[in-house]
Amino acid sequence: MIEKDGIVESVEELQTDIFILKVKAPQIAVLAKPGEFCNIKVSDSIFPFLRRPFSICDVEDDVITFQFNLVGEGTKLLSQKKKGDTINIIGTLGVGFNLLGNYENALIVAGGIGAAPFPFLIKNISEKKNIISFVGGRSKKDIIKYKLKNIIASTDDGSEGFHGNVVELLDSEIHKYDSANTKIFACGPNPMLRALSKYSIERGFACEISTESVMACGFGICQGCNIEGKDFDRFLLVCKDGPVFKAEDVIL
Ligand SMILES: Cc1cc2nc3c(=O)[nH]c(=O)nc-3n(C[C@H](O)[C@H](O)[C@H](O)COP(=O)(O)OP(=O)(O)OC[C@H]3O[C@@H](n4cnc5c(N)ncnc54)[C@H](O)[C@@H]3O)c2cc1C
Ligand code: FES
Repeated sequence: MIEKDGIVESVEELQTDIFILKVKAPQIAVLAKPGEFCNIKVSDSIFPFLRRPFSICDVEDDVITFQFNLVGEGTKLLSQKKKGDTINIIGTLGVGFNLLGNYENALIVAGGIGAAPFPFLIKNISEKKNIISFVGGRSKKDIIKYKLKNIIASTDDGSEGFHGNVVELLDSEIHKYDSANTKIFACGPNPMLRALSKYSIERGFACEISTESVMACGFGICQGCNIEGKDFDRFLLVCKDGPVFKAEDVIL
């Protein structure tokens, strides 16, 4: 983990309220692994005081890509950055996805902006794996397909793809996959992850989930991002023990 100033290469609106930010930050880019995140100082002034955490979406040479949803003051400031601006970044942080193993099928399950970490995961997973991306959103405009592979979409309102949530979509396709040869990688809102964890545990599928929490320090000092672990004698920290956990290890 290091703190460095990155130089903004570009900020583009991919689709309504979803932005792609590319930052040249060689010393951090070289450390990046799928599922890890960076804590970004979104302004040069003291406000907003807290950094904002964002998953590493992709890395190309010494440029890190972030994908973010416009939700409040911090992401508004980020969306207004211009090429050549400086952004202070602490990274890389957390424990990411474990891509190792004998599985043949890698099933990505993403809800909304939960699609963010998967371009980098896809780039780093063995070419021998069969990758399918199950991508869910409330409506067609919430479906994010940026650099994903073999996409099957679901929408709550039926405006694109399967009519239902992304766990129901997965359930409609799961007969094609043997639990012994399949691993699920997921990121999205907690209710989705809760439902998916229950689903995968009951059916014996290995499943890793990237969880979210409001964060302050981002590296284990403030204890603000705790999450209840199963069979652990302490609370786990999303920023340090996660954000990626085995589905069976945490209670959401
Ligand atoms: C490990 C990690 C990785 C993340 N990766 C991404 C990513 O790749 N792309 C992305 O768009 N977002 C990601 N987030 C969420 C992102 O950090 C927040 O959306 C962002 O901090 C909001 O900042 P803001 O100042 O714009 O909004 P604020 O004004 O701080 O908040 C606006 C609203 O969003 C809610 N909110 C703020 N932070 C979070 C959070 N961490 N989880 C859930 N709700 C929150 C607030 O309660 C409030 O309702 C990630 C969060 C974590 C913990
Ligand atoms: S954000 Fe401070 S301990 Fe996790």
